[in-house]
Amino acid sequence: MINVAILGYGTVGGGVADVLFDNAKTIAGRVGEELNVKYILDIRDFPGDRFEAKITKDFNAILADDEVRIACETMGGLKPAYDFTKALLEAGKSVCTSNKELVAAHGPELIRIAKEHNCMYLFEASVGGGIPIIRPLLDCLTAEEIDEITGILNGTTNYMLTKMDREGSDYDDVLKEAQANGYAERNPEADVEGYDACRKIAILASLKYQKTVNYEQIYTEGISKITKEDFDYAGLLNRNIKLLGMCREIGEKKYALVAPFLLEESNPLYSVSDVFNGILVHGNMVDNVMFYGRGAGKLPTASAVVSDVVEAAKKPGKPSEIIWSDEALSLDSKDELEFKYLVRMKGNPANGNWEKVFEGAKELDAEIIAGEYAFVTPLMKEGDFLEKYNSLGEAIKFIRVK
Ligand code: HSE
Repeated sequence: MINVAILGYGTVGGGVADVLFDNAKTIAGRVGEELNVKYILDIRDFPGDRFEAKITKDFNAILADDEVRIACETMGGLKPAYDFTKALLEAGKSVCTSNKELVAAHGPELIRIAKEHNCMYLFEASVGGGIPIIRPLLDCLTAEEIDEITGILNGTTNYMLTKMDREGSDYDDVLKEAQANGYAERNPEADVEGYDACRKIAILASLKYQKTVNYEQIYTEGISKITKEDFDYAGLLNRNIKLLGMCREIGEKKYALVAPFLLEESNPLYSVSDVFNGILVHGNMVDNVMFYGRGAGKLPTASAVVSDVVEAAKKPGKPSEIIWSDEALSLDSKDELEFKYLVRMKGNPANGNWEKVFEGAKELDAEIIAGEYAFVTPLMKEGDFLEKYNSLGEAIKFIRVK
């Protein structure tokens, strides 16, 4: 029997206990041994809970217990998750986590510590919730030169954008709805400003490059400025709007960004709706590979954590195979990337100088808002676009077109 501890009995931690208990037979068959949840660490009490007897407030008891070989860190945040994880790995216990904040901030260090102590630091659930993406990237796409990873990596914002697209709802209304449904936090900043997606693309980019992509270096724009009128313009172009996290390699240049994009119907990410996530990986041999599923939620995320537990349980004493060095990877400026842009303008198209500034731009031939017009630029470097855009007198906003 292999003993497991769960750190943090919140939504995901509760899901991990449920998955390990409810799928115990199947999991034991795959590991070749039974897995037993010996401890659940939480500062709260859970009277009447089915796992009440396992709940403890004493982290040191878990750390000192030689029978515990694997811990699931489902606390989230950096403190005390970082210290607990480090201590567990130093004690030779594998740690499986859903904590993208910790992985993005300290992943390479924790992987190194795991290797030094012949155990594993695994984080399948940190990106894309229940979608298998980390292990496929590391194990199955190893023959590929991957030149682009683009993903809808945040379920909350995808739910909101889907509602705005389908129901013509306002941003503020869909945010309230997302909060009422338990998707968005009371402080929704991490989701709506793109910080969550940024950490996830930083993890994927770091795994792709095997070096550290600092999430603070990634240009990040969220959805808080997207309006229902933007969707009306998108509709005229037969497109919808999605928040994408993207890393792209062109020759020696390496880029990453998070921003809302207008997507056309033929893009596989176009139909990723509601709280679902989708991750499109492009390799030079395999072409596009799409990973799709529930990017958040109790059981899907817990399932990914437990898949890591199974991996660690099957390979006792084997160090992490993940290559992610703490050498910093310097990203190139996103101003070198090429996109088309939808530009919204105040005034009358006949009086503006937009056609001269953006040679080849095409005006949208319907009036969405009185006193306003819009056009789409040709494909151009973001730096050139911004220079020209900033020279336009009456510009309202722009959205990138993919
Ligand atoms: N807030 C995140 C989301 C949770 O909405 O996708 C999963 O990381």
